Amino acid sequence: MRPKSGPVPDCSFLYSMSLQQNIDKDRLPRHIAIIMDGNGRWAQEKGEDRLFGHLHGVESVRNIVEGAAEINIEYLTLYAFSTENWDRPEYEVTGLMELLVDTIRKEVPTLNKNNIRLHVIGDIGMLPAYAQQELAEALAETAQNTGLNLIMALSYSSRWELVNAVKAIAADVKASKLDPETITQDTLQQYLSTSAFPDPELMIRTSGEFRISNFLLYQLAYAELYFTNTRWPDFRKENLYEAILDFQKRERRFGKTGEQIKKIT
Ligand code: IPE
Ligand code: IPE
Ligand code: MG
Repeated sequence: MRPKSGPVPDCSFLYSMSLQQNIDKDRLPRHIAIIMDGNGRWAQEKGEDRLFGHLHGVESVRNIVEGAAEINIEYLTLYAFSTENWDRPEYEVTGLMELLVDTIRKEVPTLNKNNIRLHVIGDIGMLPAYAQQELAEALAETAQNTGLNLIMALSYSSRWELVNAVKAIAADVKASKLDPETITQDTLQQYLSTSAFPDPELMIRTSGEFRISNFLLYQLAYAELYFTNTRWPDFRKENLYEAILDFQKRERRFGKTGEQIKKIT
């Protein structure tokens, strides 16, 4: 007998819905940061060029942005290109830049449809002129949106950011705009490229690497870290929801004792 034909049920959709329902909406991380890693290995494992992995990584970006917006995450930072990534072979850097710009250009209507505001952090002056132009337009075109804040870390590194902050503070002290005696943690925060955003509460890194790679070193001070072996091109909203559920099981103590925390909550 021939098996019944018809549409194959989308199990990942059902799984993602059931995970979504289990998430406690009152205890969502406001800000999730992701190191999107493993594109190159994903492609090479399939006998393909590394750029093929980056191309498929874009599909994950779309899916994760959608997944984050669906559950009303306020801030999502994606590490797309580090300062150190400029040292990769030229063809990969060029290919990645083109892909980034092309994707951002094509995604602006979807971002607007979904009320998503785009932000960029990083040394944007390092990007080719056409990329800077496209980015500036995308930022302006989504500036009115009030839903998810999507922060792309491009040509970003935390040490670059901290050096910049120190330079800017020194310049303001020199110009008598800032009294060194009044500098607090809040002052330093205001000089970072993330000054408009709360610190990430959950940081996810894909592809089985257990390091921070110069990402938000100051801002991640109390973030919960979540590492998964899944390569970025395979990462989907159900993986994001699994990470959030894991986050919700943790006790965040901020230096206090477990007993103190239980009394507060
Ligand atoms: C992450 O994937 C994307 C970027 C760093 C631009 P990789 O390109 O680092 O992939 P792997 O780590 O070599 O597999
Ligand atoms: C970190 O990944 C940067 C991005 C994901 C954009 P890398 O692949 O560049 O990090 P390392 O070199 O393995 O630490
Ligand atoms: Mg990598």
